[in-house]
Amino acid sequence: MNRRDFLALTSSAAAAGYFVDARHAHANAQPEPAATPSPWTAPFDSAPCLQNPTATSMNVTFAVNALCTAWVEFGTGGELDQRADGARHGLLPLNNRVHTFSLRGLTPGTRYRYRVVARPIVFKNAYSITPGEAVRSPVYTFTTPDNGAGGAARFSIINDTHEKADTLGAMTSLLATHPADLHFWNGDIFDDIRSDDQLVAQILRPVNAPYATEVPMCFVAGNHDVRGAHARHLERFAPTSDGLRCYALRQGPVAFVVLDTGEDKPDDHQVYGGLNAFASYRRTQAVWLADVTASAPWRDAKFRVAVMHIPLWGDSCSEDSRAQWHTLLEQGRTDLVINGHVHKHLYTPGGAGAPHRYSQLVGGGPKLDAATFIHGTADTGSLSVRVLNAKGEELASHVFTPS
Ligand SMILES: [Fe+2]
Repeated sequence: MNRRDFLALTSSAAAAGYFVDARHAHANAQPEPAATPSPWTAPFDSAPCLQNPTATSMNVTFAVNALCTAWVEFGTGGELDQRADGARHGLLPLNNRVHTFSLRGLTPGTRYRYRVVARPIVFKNAYSITPGEAVRSPVYTFTTPDNGAGGAARFSIINDTHEKADTLGAMTSLLATHPADLHFWNGDIFDDIRSDDQLVAQILRPVNAPYATEVPMCFVAGNHDVRGAHARHLERFAPTSDGLRCYALRQGPVAFVVLDTGEDKPDDHQVYGGLNAFASYRRTQAVWLADVTASAPWRDAKFRVAVMHIPLWGDSCSEDSRAQWHTLLEQGRTDLVINGHVHKHLYTPGGAGAPHRYSQLVGGGPKLDAATFIHGTADTGSLSVRVLNAKGEELASHVFTPS
């Protein structure tokens, strides 16, 4: 199955009716607390957030607090001589809360400079539209994943922050002080998703601090990130390159695969009201995963790491995810599966004595004293994965060599 076929299988997400009108979704909801005053120059309401890259693409998302159009200026040299204008069906963007752009046709392993631009628009009616002055962000840089061409990889993983401000503060500080090529947010960013303002607050400006202006954040869906009527709007704020929440990346000697374990109870559980279809979604991901684990970037990698929110083994595991994906991960000689969900740091080495050849590492929980920050560094000879607490103190360290 190629990605186009897979996309066709999943395209029902874009069908009319997938999104619910917030006026209906929140008839019984409590009002959101007032938004924290924005420290950014209007109309910006967040710094740009780099999200979910491929070796040849980068998503750039940012919040605004007024009706505006927007674009991204970028380039590899001294000039920002390329522009992503976000045009769709002949129309340039116009939104009062969020803008997102996909920079395509990039070169793997290449450093780019970029800035985002917003131009306020007074839109009285279809025949009276007045543009204001364009406002430009500072210039930032990013480097595209190298598709395996380089000899090293660095990555950071946080999980289960559950909207806890003190934990988000600690985790974003650790992200800033631990060099990485890729960040992963391994699920349960939210308790449940209720509004656009909440999506902005948690994803685009957690604790009002930039955190992914120069290193992209790879979002991994957790069960709480697919709860709440507004969960159907998550992709407006955290787009993926192909509209999929499973994806594969290669950075230096490490091949990554991200899978979406979905909800933690069966689809027919009464609490979901008949609105979930995660079993078929996991089966579809299995078809895709078979292609990934048979592909050259995966087979040729020195180390193979799977990132998914709910563990495949142990307490609170996803038995259906295990039934769909475990054999493929084993056959694909996966070294390490990294999870969250359990709210407790756990490590089970793979191989003798375990029912799986891969090791299973589970990050900690939302409370500050249970939170963990996972930092990995690899060269062609070894992969070292350190688990730190919220103070940056080492709790555990695991070293893998090529198998
Ligand atoms: Fe969870």
